[in-house]
Amino acid sequence: MVYILAIESSCDDTSAAVLRDGLLLSNVTASQAVHEQYGGVVPELASRAHEQNIVPVVDAALKRAGVEKEQLTAIAFTRGPGLMGSLLVGVNFAKGLALALGIPLVEVNHLQGHVLAHFIKEQGDETAPPFPFLCLLVSGGNSQIIKVKAYNDMEIMGQTIDDAAGEAIDKCSKVMGLGYPGGPIIDCLARQGNPDAYQFAKPNIPGYDYSFSGLKTSFLYSLRDWLKDDPDFIEHHKEDLAASLERTVVDILMKKLRMAVKDTGITHVAVAGGVSANNGLRNAFRDHAQRYGWTIYIPKFSYTTDNAAMIGIAGYFKYQDHEFCDINAPAFARIG
Ligand code: KG4
Repeated sequence: MVYILAIESSCDDTSAAVLRDGLLLSNVTASQAVHEQYGGVVPELASRAHEQNIVPVVDAALKRAGVEKEQLTAIAFTRGPGLMGSLLVGVNFAKGLALALGIPLVEVNHLQGHVLAHFIKEQGDETAPPFPFLCLLVSGGNSQIIKVKAYNDMEIMGQTIDDAAGEAIDKCSKVMGLGYPGGPIIDCLARQGNPDAYQFAKPNIPGYDYSFSGLKTSFLYSLRDWLKDDPDFIEHHKEDLAASLERTVVDILMKKLRMAVKDTGITHVAVAGGVSANNGLRNAFRDHAQRYGWTIYIPKFSYTTDNAAMIGIAGYFKYQDHEFCDINAPAFARIG
């Protein structure tokens, strides 16, 4: 039997998971509340919190799985991309434990992990997308349309040329003084608002690439004008503002995705990453499935944001291909 311990520490969640022959036995995540007061992730505080969390999180994942560390076959870890200080904690912990146990290391690309979250098995009877499929990967740091040809063969068809979708939502939420992270707050408010109340700028750039900085600017300038007339404008209209902002982001995302489906003829379409928790986006996927005959794959809420379960399944596939990682392989913050 193959037991894999997976470790994820690329941003502000410390997570560990244990898998037996590709089946998920445990997935434990410690989130870091320390960043809330700053309205964003503070890298130095994130690495310190990882340092505090990593041992108890790994310990809890092993205990919950009922697995002793001596039973482990390999350790999978997120090597990048992400915050360097955060990555270093997970990478070095994984290396130290692998060395002590005399077992191999498997490196996982965080973004590929998000895509492969659709292959996480808890019962063993989950439906995973067939290859090739398209995946819309939307998080705080990335917005990409990926053609997934195999577990280890992914082509980025388009991506943001500036802000990511989650980043744009978070920043607009911040200027409204709504708190951090903005995504879940906007999602909640949007449910009570009118998505057609306000219009914000939509980008017009070629190909499958995205851009969200124009929307951010348009949101900011509109808000400034409205606040001149009514200093309580945000308080009075926050639901409509949230709903209109969410609608604009979802429209921008879906327009390019429709183009990619049309041009490739691939109708199996998945969504992944933190923003895939958004109800407006999930509904847009369901609507497209009905309207255009797509077969859609929407992850469980717990596998949308950063988690080690997705690193574990990605690591398991690599383990099967005997793709091991050198003990000297450094963490990387960015791709390329
Ligand atoms: O994938 P993720 O956990 O982290 C990285 O980007 O590394 O994604 C976090 C992003 C944040 O921008 C957060 O605001 C957004 O996902 N998010 C949401 C929702 N839940 C999280 N955005 C919209 N609606 C949500 N329900």
